[in-house]
Amino acid sequence: MTTPVLEARDVTMRFGGLTAVRSVDFTVNSGEIVGLIGPNGAGKTTFFNCLTGLYVPTEGTVSYQGKVLPPKPHLVTQAGIARTFQNIRLFANMTVLENVLVGRHTRTKEGLWSALLRGPGFRKAEKESEAKAMELLEFIGLAAKRDHLARNLPYGEQRKLEIARALASEPGLLLLDEPTAGMNPQETRATEDLVFAIRDKGIAVLVIEHDMRFIFNLCDRVAVLVQGEKLVEGTSDVVQADERVVAAYLGEPFEGDPGAAEAAEVEAAEATAEAEGAESAEPADSAETAEPADSAATTDTVESTEADSTTKGEAQ
Ligand SMILES: Nc1ncnc2c1ncn2[C@@H]1O[C@H](COP(=O)(O)OP(=O)(O)OP(=O)(O)O)[C@@H](O)[C@H]1O
Ligand SMILES: [Mg+2]
Repeated sequence: MTTPVLEARDVTMRFGGLTAVRSVDFTVNSGEIVGLIGPNGAGKTTFFNCLTGLYVPTEGTVSYQGKVLPPKPHLVTQAGIARTFQNIRLFANMTVLENVLVGRHTRTKEGLWSALLRGPGFRKAEKESEAKAMELLEFIGLAAKRDHLARNLPYGEQRKLEIARALASEPGLLLLDEPTAGMNPQETRATEDLVFAIRDKGIAVLVIEHDMRFIFNLCDRVAVLVQGEKLVEGTSDVVQADERVVAAYLGEPFEGDPGAAEAAEVEAAEATAEAEGAESAEPADSAETAEPADSAATTDTVESTEADSTTKGEAQ
């Protein structure tokens, strides 16, 4: 059964005269991986900031498991929403393990004095926390680097560590802002598996990404934000096929779409065949030598111009 985990109602965020997010309704259900896509400046991060209490929305409400959230980051984390940031925010001079321990502090009962005095209660809690943090590092694949300084990790591992730290607060919903930015294809694939594994732990995921292959492979549902407004929402298939999305954002079919790649190849091959047919009476190198005749031929079809230039480019 699907129950709403997160419900944003009519969320608007204005900065002076600029409306970065406009009347957005949005739901994430339990067990779902939902994608949020849109061009640069569409308002995706601003929307995340409204969900996590970093910004107080100009209008609208955000509820988590049926309760309206106070717009305060620590209360949002306490309620059960964790996030990562578009620009990695780690404690650079702390170790990998310490960074995860910091993420756990909302779930530990030990207060400031207990921590300062390092009494028996604190030491017991500290041991438990460390065990939990190590479990997370195993899960994320960074256990062997527990004592490395965060700043010495390669970029892809810093992103992973941020996810581990977010998970340390034991969330019911995880928000990821561009988790694969700067990753190589292998790391991106691994992150895909990681997000599936997080979902399998019973954590719903909302993810912002520009990598369309990643989004469409991963998400049960995708919402498209354009100029602060939700343009379309649906399954990956529905969103990919929507002409408004293609026009506003995708521009051309995403590179993983085998149908589109085939169609482009067929088109190019047909154009080449057509161009060759038209020139069959002329010497083979006429494209290089007979400038006026060639340019007359290529004005007929756009495709032949492209096919010619490709062939020429390869020959050179
Ligand atoms: N604190 C702020 N003050 C003023 N304007 C802001 C602020 N934060 C964001 N904006 C503006 O709001 C709009 C949306 O920005 P936002 O960062 O949310 O976009 P985005 O969809 O996350 O883009 P990207 O894909 O590049 O990360 C932009 O025009 C941005 O300049
Ligand atoms: Mg952003």
